Amino acid sequence: MTTRRGETLLAPSILSADFSRLAEEIHAVEKAGVRMLHVDVMDGHFVPNLTIGPPVVASIRAVTSLKLDTHLMVEHPDRLLEAFVEAGADMISVHAEACHHLHRTVTSIRSAGREAGVVLNPATPLHVLDEILPDVNYVLLMSVNPGWGGQAFIPRVMDKVVALRRRIDEAGLGVRIEVDGGVTRDNIASLAQAGADILVAGSAVFGRGDSRAAAAALMVALAGAGTR
Ligand code: DX5
Ligand code: ZN
Repeated sequence: MTTRRGETLLAPSILSADFSRLAEEIHAVEKAGVRMLHVDVMDGHFVPNLTIGPPVVASIRAVTSLKLDTHLMVEHPDRLLEAFVEAGADMISVHAEACHHLHRTVTSIRSAGREAGVVLNPATPLHVLDEILPDVNYVLLMSVNPGWGGQAFIPRVMDKVVALRRRIDEAGLGVRIEVDGGVTRDNIASLAQAGADILVAGSAVFGRGDSRAAAAALMVALAGAGTR
């Protein structure tokens, strides 16, 4: 059985944006036609780096109607869910490696009316999804070890995307696949062809001078991927 897939989307990650001009940076990618923004939340524990929390998400919410895809790289994400829901996150993903009660966490996100995603680090095998796949809206496959922008794509993750796509399609599920880390103009089309539905790109969009042009170029590359 095959479930029809929607359009493949680019989700610029603000991690590499100039935070002193965040609204401007967001409006630049809006002008390029993106529909989703990826927001990286790091707690200094699950990953060594520390980034932003619910107040910043609320400020972003106030300046854009883009869908906010919130990637929680935190320990005990349950403690923060309500705050991110209230801040206006549309999609909330949690790391399987950080959740003791993954089903409960995913259920809480969906009960709050938000889309729930489960994230797998590069070394975490797909079988971790065995008992949770039908309950999630999307799976985020990390293609770098989380913590920083600008790292190189780990090539083996391409096969993981293909395997997960096959599995989702065979089960007839509408679960989307998101890929995050090291996405560039060189690999974005291949990732879409492998079965990814959402491609996150941080340093390939921001910090390069013209964020609008960089996002537009990635979207052109994505459009060139065609349908599988
Ligand atoms: C890394 C973050 C990514 C990061 C991607 O831990 O989850 O979303 O912003 O950055 P690039 O696209 O530069 O690899
Ligand atoms: Zn991310």
